[in-house]
Amino acid sequence: MSTIESVVQETRVFPPSEETVKKATISGMAAYEALCKEAEQDYAGYWARLAREHVTWKTPFTKSLDESEAPFYKWFPDGTLNVSYNCLDRQVEAGKGDKVALIFEADDGKVTKVTYKDLLARTAKFANALRAQGIKKGDRVLIYLAMSVEGVVAMQACARIGAIHSVVFGGFSAKSLEERILDAGAVAVITADEQCRGGKNIPLKPAVDEALNLAVGHNVKTVFVVKRTGGACNMVAGRDVWYHDIVAGQSETCEPEWVDAEHPLFLLYTSGSTGKPKGVQHSSGGYLLHAILTNKWTFDLKDDDVFWCTADIGWVTGHTYITYGPLACGATEIVFESVPTYPDAGRFWKMIQDHKVSVFYTAPTAIRSLIKANEGNPATHPRNYDLKSLRILGSVGEPINPEAWMWYYNNVGGGRCPILDTFWQTETGGHMITPLPGVTPLVPGSCTLPFPGIQATIVDETGHELEWGKGGFLVVKKPWPSMIRTIWGDADRFKKSYFPADFQGKLYLAGDGAMRDAKTGYFTIMGRIDDVLNVSGHRMGTMEIESALVANPLVAEAAVVGRPDDLTGEAICAFVVLKQSRPSDEDAKKIAKELRDWVGKEIGPIAKPKDIRFGENLPKTRSGKIMRRLLRALAKGEEITQDVSTLENPHILDQLKQNA
Ligand code: WTA
Repeated sequence: MSTIESVVQETRVFPPSEETVKKATISGMAAYEALCKEAEQDYAGYWARLAREHVTWKTPFTKSLDESEAPFYKWFPDGTLNVSYNCLDRQVEAGKGDKVALIFEADDGKVTKVTYKDLLARTAKFANALRAQGIKKGDRVLIYLAMSVEGVVAMQACARIGAIHSVVFGGFSAKSLEERILDAGAVAVITADEQCRGGKNIPLKPAVDEALNLAVGHNVKTVFVVKRTGGACNMVAGRDVWYHDIVAGQSETCEPEWVDAEHPLFLLYTSGSTGKPKGVQHSSGGYLLHAILTNKWTFDLKDDDVFWCTADIGWVTGHTYITYGPLACGATEIVFESVPTYPDAGRFWKMIQDHKVSVFYTAPTAIRSLIKANEGNPATHPRNYDLKSLRILGSVGEPINPEAWMWYYNNVGGGRCPILDTFWQTETGGHMITPLPGVTPLVPGSCTLPFPGIQATIVDETGHELEWGKGGFLVVKKPWPSMIRTIWGDADRFKKSYFPADFQGKLYLAGDGAMRDAKTGYFTIMGRIDDVLNVSGHRMGTMEIESALVANPLVAEAAVVGRPDDLTGEAICAFVVLKQSRPSDEDAKKIAKELRDWVGKEIGPIAKPKDIRFGENLPKTRSGKIMRRLLRALAKGEEITQDVSTLENPHILDQLKQNA
């Protein structure tokens, strides 16, 4: 709440500089408003115009939008294209073959540059290798790779042959992999022997082996293994192939598979309010359009820019702002293998200086941890580096608190660079509410106004629009091209989660609370309204963590809530009832560690609860419902002033105040 209050009281306004306005593709508020108006009058026509201008089609579409099976919208349905063609061949054909596409900086600082021509050749070779293994259009391919040139190549190669990739973040466990391999019905996995992070080599391949052993009835025929470190790596005969062996004899040309605009480009699993992660399905044409537009308009990408998005390809940000968008705009971008604090907390600043980065996109959690590290260690402070190449800064993944915003603005941007606080989601494919650099006066902590064409608003629980100044549910009133198409294998869950009957099935429900400033109409995101937590910008379902905890033989019952945390935004707090009696203080510590490790193995280290508290029971109503609002108050360390008269067992509240 403190963040919301401080934003609501925020009075600092930073209008765009004249220079930025002059340079920007969307220049000035009038240009922005004209686009919004065009979309309001005819949204299907507006997006069709842009799709004709920005995407290269094999067969041009004749119909912009098919709403006959809403909310299963179909954009540009009779057009055909190939996404990899749009990212790579298109640049080479335009004479940019020798332009650097990727600047890969490895954990140890080693730099490799890949031109558009090279990237196309590498993608074609791997695409041919995939085809040679019998992988074809519509097949699902799971990618479990760290940040690497091969990661981008693997995704592009799938797109080239019309295979549907599903990238799983390298920090997820074998168990999470297994679940995704089965749900997606993957026929192949692309992985590496190990990954390098912060000077350590961390095995990747064993998790794939374990996942495939666990996944009863899976369809995986081939596992492609990139040799990253050359460390020990078990290869299963007849199933596992080395990436370098398999691409060696392949041709550097590969005819793209021309697919319908609606052909799924990828699935990306994300957390929802039930235990099972959802496979968010994105399209080819509509998704690509928004990836291009947001890179051109939000980041104002120009031919001479060097773009750096610090996200991992395991998250949607790495899809839209590393693998697809910047390449489809013909930009030069950085692919970064390491972590922001290795070898020291000056890594980001040194890389911006070395590569003359002009547009930089990162997460508030990274900023907050670097503030802490840099203010504590003046040697790595951004003031020691030449950051003059920067012209635009971005933020994504969670609300950026005004203090972090100001530090980022002054210390990294030198008070010259606009900060684009981009609100969006895995499901939306790209930016939804965001400032545009040459348009929007900035207010720290607010994501400001919708991207042109996105008709966002705030409604009450019955779907009625609220006046500015009132908090409610964030919704989108009209379909847009890069929206989620369905949840893989669960169309019903798609409808219920995003187009609920309460809103007559017509409004896209984002799952966030928001309010608009009474005067400016600027949006402020107030956080999730469902049981989804945001820890360091990573989405985690409380139910997922609860299921993992109760799967442990020691645990009888568990409830998980979030509590505010200065560094990670939210922290995971678990309330646990053991099958045995409530442990002594000493045992509690031991068991808590065991449970954290268990959750790390079940889901991944990012899901480990920060706090674990043991009770003989959980606070329940007489009808047996867990009172989560009490747990939230306990997690925050607040005195319980709420009405507990309906509580069956008030004495356990004292037990649950204590952290193990
Ligand atoms: C949150 C990440 C405030 C929000 C691209 C959303 C934000 C969830 C912002 C999606 C922002 C993302 N300000 N909150 N600028 N950006 N969020 O799917 O709660 O990993 O619903 O997509 O992150 O997380 P996801």
